[in-house]
Amino acid sequence: MYTQAMDLPDPSAKLHVVGQPDAAQAEFDLKIDADRKIEPQDWMPEAYRKTLLRQISQHAHSEIVGMQPEGNWISRAPSLKRKAILLAKVQDEGGHGLYLYSAAETLGQSRDTMLEALHSGKAKYSSIFNYPTLTWADVGVIGWLVDGAAIMNQIPICRCSYGPYARAMIRICKEESFHQRQGFESLLTQMKGTQAQRDMVQDAVNRWWWPVLAMFGPPDADSPNSANSMRWGIKRISNDDLRQKFVDATIPQAKILGVTVPDPDLEWNEQRGHYDYGAIDWDDFWAVVNGNGPCNKERLATRVKAHEDGQWVRDAALAHARKVMARELKEAA
Ligand SMILES: [Fe+2]
Ligand SMILES: [Fe+2]
Repeated sequence: MYTQAMDLPDPSAKLHVVGQPDAAQAEFDLKIDADRKIEPQDWMPEAYRKTLLRQISQHAHSEIVGMQPEGNWISRAPSLKRKAILLAKVQDEGGHGLYLYSAAETLGQSRDTMLEALHSGKAKYSSIFNYPTLTWADVGVIGWLVDGAAIMNQIPICRCSYGPYARAMIRICKEESFHQRQGFESLLTQMKGTQAQRDMVQDAVNRWWWPVLAMFGPPDADSPNSANSMRWGIKRISNDDLRQKFVDATIPQAKILGVTVPDPDLEWNEQRGHYDYGAIDWDDFWAVVNGNGPCNKERLATRVKAHEDGQWVRDAALAHARKVMARELKEAA
């Protein structure tokens, strides 16, 4: 889920993309121009590698931290059916993290290094997961809106120029589609229930709407890395265009559900053929990105604890692998 297109300033991205006279650069440019895939063994500019590594690892971190807000509700799901669905979804997110760490490793960084960056607070993950899940309706709204925004963001990444990332995204997008639909269906059921349930859904939509719009990243005018990412075929559609697509697709769904979004400026613009929407509070977004959201500390502490608690599993898996290898070597001798 959730690359978020966080175009934080990165000095390496200022390296020249084109104009290097050597043959390897020329071949890379040709592949990009022809819309062919770049594979791990191919030569690539250092800035391309760094941009991808930052984006894919940030994406992987978001998947595994994203297990927490909904994971909190597994033990409190209102029925066995909802519990089974939620367990499957949260497990999917863990799987997405694993595909993405594997894709990032092909760029030459170890998983330990990436996790160390996450645990020390150096690496970012999507700020959307720093908001709390206060009621059961939040779980449905996360599926409908957060996974919905993630799909909008990630469908174009299936055509990313870097092969391992593009291929991982194809499977991930299929699973995100299930996540989005289960969220919508859960909310639809709640909206057919009591007035208290309908109020709970509306309250959750009110709290999540603006942070979800911010998931698409800063406005295009403030996205310093976008031009290179577009040139390299890592990014295909701008933050503002994706955000508009999301609003246009989601408002008709809100009408079916019978909820409103907390935006007095939201209005269909006949001339543009799109919905107009109000101003996003970017100060709040940056405060959360920079560690001051409602749950930043809690999320990171839970992640570090889970990693430490899992040490014995990693040790056991390694010991087993060594034993198997030693046996195979002995048999081959
Ligand atoms: Fe995911
Ligand atoms: Fe998801």
